[in-house]
Amino acid sequence: MKIKREHWGTRLGLILAVAGNAIGLGNFLRFPVQAADNGGGAFMIPYMISLILLGIPLLWIEWALGRFGSKKGHGTAVAVFDYLWKNPVAKYIGFLGVLIPLTVVVYYTYIESWTLLYSFFSLIGGLPSTPLTADVKDYLEPFKNFLFEKTGETSEGFLLKPPLETYIFFLITLVINLYILYRGVSAGIEKVAKIAMPLIFIMAIILMVRVFTLTSPDGRNFLDGLGFLWNPDFSALTNPKVWLAAAGQVFFTLSVGFGAILTYASYIKPKDDIALNGLAGASVNEFAEIILGGSIAIVASVIFFGVGATAVIASHGAFDLGFMALPAIFANIPYGQFFSFVWFLLLFFAGVTSSIALCQPAIAFLEDELGYSRQKSVALLGGFLFFAAHIPIFIKGALGELDFWVGTMGLVLFALFEAVVFFWIYGSKKAWEEMTRDNDIKIPKIFYYIMKFVAPTFLIIILVSWVFEYLPSVLSKTDIGTWVARGFLLFLTIAGILIIKLAWEKRNGRTSS
Ligand code: ALA
Repeated sequence: MKIKREHWGTRLGLILAVAGNAIGLGNFLRFPVQAADNGGGAFMIPYMISLILLGIPLLWIEWALGRFGSKKGHGTAVAVFDYLWKNPVAKYIGFLGVLIPLTVVVYYTYIESWTLLYSFFSLIGGLPSTPLTADVKDYLEPFKNFLFEKTGETSEGFLLKPPLETYIFFLITLVINLYILYRGVSAGIEKVAKIAMPLIFIMAIILMVRVFTLTSPDGRNFLDGLGFLWNPDFSALTNPKVWLAAAGQVFFTLSVGFGAILTYASYIKPKDDIALNGLAGASVNEFAEIILGGSIAIVASVIFFGVGATAVIASHGAFDLGFMALPAIFANIPYGQFFSFVWFLLLFFAGVTSSIALCQPAIAFLEDELGYSRQKSVALLGGFLFFAAHIPIFIKGALGELDFWVGTMGLVLFALFEAVVFFWIYGSKKAWEEMTRDNDIKIPKIFYYIMKFVAPTFLIIILVSWVFEYLPSVLSKTDIGTWVARGFLLFLTIAGILIIKLAWEKRNGRTSS
């Protein structure tokens, strides 16, 4: 039986949901770290170029694929690729658009749950407090210990042993996500976006204003922080590492290459606009990223610790700036407890509106291809996420390994497939016609060439560079967490192939009888 597909209720709701899809931990945690670790102003030029040559064109491609899917009654790349490319392998490649977001969400919801835990601990005054000392390392030490204790990193061996409260906050986060998904596209996702998005902006603006009024004892203020991010450094244009980081961030923040935009776009009506909707969602996301995301963590850290120390903090990994430096700063300002609470709640809200989007391709797949009801699909997804999340929660090293394969390489690979299947296999003329029909604004013709030639070339260069730059060190890892993560990915791939095979056999059986 085919389930009746849902649709977005209003255009504003759609844009907020799409912006919520994009605005996430990437904007407020990942962006500042990437920017600070890659030279601040040196990072911003490759970032802007990647946004125009990769981000926006691929976003429009994903929207167009989603609208094409809505015409056919399908919401994932599995079926969409199968329509566009008459080759039995197409649907299996399209499965990347379900596998990637589903795997990312396994660890994304776990990190999201830390933000809820931190906001709770901020509220009850349970975060460490330490007086400002000259040595940044000493200063951040209690916050590092707190994070390590809460995530179980301190334990010996390959097993992580987080305390019970971490597990409870994870379960609460999972239930919140599943409940929203259970309510459905319009009554769940859209409704939450209408409430969460204004709150995210209000909280971010409160924090930005507070950070802009900070000064350090030796006279640094917000201008030093903004200067670090906005004074362009053209020398970095020749550094491939900065380009890889910038392009990776553009993908992650716009949610391009996950398959989640495609699924959201499949819930518009077949003749609705995609050009303006896509651009509006991306603009809101970029405002949240470079204006708000770029004005909180980096600026506060530069004011308190200086440019050099901020770059060092960022180089330690994705969490040091947001989970250590920022609460350490808040611990030393009036009403810091409140600002710390707001900061982590902001991260939580931003995280939820993204994680539900990352779950939706799996739900759409179960509904559209297997004919399952929404309730059954959400129950299956919930069971899967619950069990799968035990890997990043309890096994050391698994989270980083999963993030490399799906959250970094996977996005670029799938985006490349989207561009190639649409513009090279389906045909660039037909793809362009499909993309430019029924829109409220005209997509400039130059994007035809960017989508057909520039973006795929750029993507291939990124993939090849990653293979040379990072793959040898990733492949040389042999710890248990790495192998568990790889085994898990292999298991998901095989399971996906079998499910698709069965679904298509059933479908073909139906059509031929
Ligand atoms: N785009 C989402 C984020 O930025 C995944 O977190």
